[in-house]
Amino acid sequence: MRILLIGKVGQLGWELERVLATVGALRAVDVPEVDLAQPDTLAPLVREARPDIIINAAAFTAVDRAESELDLVRTVNGVAPGVLAEEAARLGAAFVHYSTDYVFDGAKTTPYLEADAPRPLNAYGRSKLEGERAVEAAGGAYLILRTSWVYSLRGSGFVSKVLQWVRTQDDVRVAEDEVSSPTWARALAQATEQILAAAPLLVVPRIKERRGVYHLAGAGSASRLEWAREILACDPHPEEHKVKDIRPARRRDFPTAAERPAYSALDCSKIEDAFGVRLPRWREALRLAMGEAGQ
Ligand SMILES: NC(=O)c1ccc[n+]([C@@H]2O[C@H](COP(=O)([O-])OP(=O)(O)OC[C@H]3O[C@@H](n4cnc5c(N)ncnc54)[C@H](OP(=O)(O)O)[C@@H]3O)[C@@H](O)[C@H]2O)c1
Repeated sequence: MRILLIGKVGQLGWELERVLATVGALRAVDVPEVDLAQPDTLAPLVREARPDIIINAAAFTAVDRAESELDLVRTVNGVAPGVLAEEAARLGAAFVHYSTDYVFDGAKTTPYLEADAPRPLNAYGRSKLEGERAVEAAGGAYLILRTSWVYSLRGSGFVSKVLQWVRTQDDVRVAEDEVSSPTWARALAQATEQILAAAPLLVVPRIKERRGVYHLAGAGSASRLEWAREILACDPHPEEHKVKDIRPARRRDFPTAAERPAYSALDCSKIEDAFGVRLPRWREALRLAMGEAGQ
């Protein structure tokens, strides 16, 4: 089975490249070999790779910057996934794509279901919703996996920022009125691999039969404050901390260019019913991720 992975350098793509190597013959690409900002260049890449599965882990993910780069974010997140899905359908390949909790407006107080109506609050969320619709319109065998608050111990995401703040600042405050489901990139990659590895020969028809939008995020929910405090508690080097606790703040204390949903935890029972996969509870995953980083 040939797999084309797009976005191998990102948080999720990096983990996918490692877990997918056992599933099939993997070709993993990122910028500059592939540029989703130039959708016309995608068909030749796909036709040359002749994959059985295309996985798109690439996206424009700078949520605040998206507000001022509307054309770019719409092309990368809204248009390019549709082109990839069309090429996959043309080749009879399956297309696996990731979307976001930011398609929702955050008005709910219980986990969002796939059947809930999307209403994005920001340009990034609108572009990802456009991408979902373009993938659906292409038909074929596709999975759109909506996830949330993705982190890895590599790079400069929220976990790394908290670890840096508690080492360098005398007072660390984090919003308690923003709630979602923290998702370890490795656990998300492993769940994707489980879906694809269960029946390699049957994977395309199986995905075609069950195609659609699925929520796949760390189990449970947390406020940013709870998440930050757990990061502090799991840090294997507490002797380096300048603060012993993280204080509560409100979102309005940290104005940002993009508005974000106050609540965007995802109910992931549909994918468990369809494919038998679920991610660990977010606290467990964080302990595993940080324990490993401390070794
Ligand atoms: N991060 C989150 O909290 C979160 C939450 C919900 C959903 N998601 C979704 O989950 C998926 C994976 O996210 P992630 O956190 O792994 O993202 P990430 O770390 O930002 O990685 C995205 C990758 O896409 C690449 N990329 C950006 N623009 C590109 C372009 N024009 N052409 C080709 N590649 C391009 C990036 O390259 P450069 O680094 O060179 O730009 C990077 O390698 C995305 O679909 C995202 O929308 C993420």
